[in-house]
Amino acid sequence: MVDILPLSSYPSYINLLPSIQTCNITNLPENYFLKYYLYHALTWPQLSFVAVVRPKNGYKKTGYGLNGTGPGDDYPKVVGYVLAKMEEEPTDGMAHGHITSLSVMRTHRRLGIAERLMRMSQRAMAEAHRAHYVSLHVRVSNQAALHLYRDTLGFEVEKVESKYYADGEDAYAMRMDLTPMWIDWTEDEEKEKKKERSGGEGDEEHADEGEEVGELGKKDGEKMIRVKVGRGLGVGDLVERNESVKAES
Ligand SMILES: CC(C)(COP(=O)(O)OP(=O)(O)OC[C@H]1O[C@@H](n2cnc3c(N)ncnc32)[C@H](O)[C@@H]1OP(=O)(O)O)[C@@H](O)C(=O)NCCC(=O)NCCS
Repeated sequence: MVDILPLSSYPSYINLLPSIQTCNITNLPENYFLKYYLYHALTWPQLSFVAVVRPKNGYKKTGYGLNGTGPGDDYPKVVGYVLAKMEEEPTDGMAHGHITSLSVMRTHRRLGIAERLMRMSQRAMAEAHRAHYVSLHVRVSNQAALHLYRDTLGFEVEKVESKYYADGEDAYAMRMDLTPMWIDWTEDEEKEKKKERSGGEGDEEHADEGEEVGELGKKDGEKMIRVKVGRGLGVGDLVERNESVKAES
């Protein structure tokens, strides 16, 4: 029995990252430094998922993790993963997700694991980040992945990127619209506006009872400063084999 878990919900997902890296190295020629996995897990914890074999005797009560359950002393076997992120500086100005890498161990293929991993990640992109679409790259020769993306999930080929991969193979740049998966917040927004108009009165449940926190921005002339994170700090350099531009799947 295989469970699909969000990386963020795992009792200590950082422990699973080396196994995810092993799964990647076993299945794909595009590989990454461990810190690139960590960067995904810490920056977009909702978007990456891992497929693990359920421990033989089930999950044990450990007192940590989701509902206090965990795998006990046994390391769960990782048989698949999807590593995903939000595009940090979208050139088209539209918030969108990107599949960095996806793979399933040979022993567990054709069981619908990749499909589930992808669907869960896409849903999280739409719901948690209001992503307009999700993009990815796939080798033009990768029939299995192409079937999965195009026929099962409904991705469309946007363009062919010539010699995208380090060995000179072309890639299909594919994308899929995620806006139909957006949650409709209209009702909540209306409630929020109504509350603002009435000065926030009459909503006992959401009343803020705490003291003000922090002094930032209160003193005359004190300003918040925007700082650049992510690529500006050389995140692209974390990709192994100097494939910073071309290594994502
Ligand atoms: C591509 C890959 C992730 C698919 O994983 P999987 O768990 O076996 O896929 P699923 O069982 O969810 O299959 C879903 C659909 O994908 C397609 N598919 C999967 N494997 C296929 C294959 N070998 N040939 C043709 N279509 C295939 C089918 O449309 C399938 O639907 P169906 O079973 O109803 O026909 C897996 O083969 C793999 O890890 N390959 C090596 C790594 C890789 O290529 N990753 C993608 C990089 S872009």
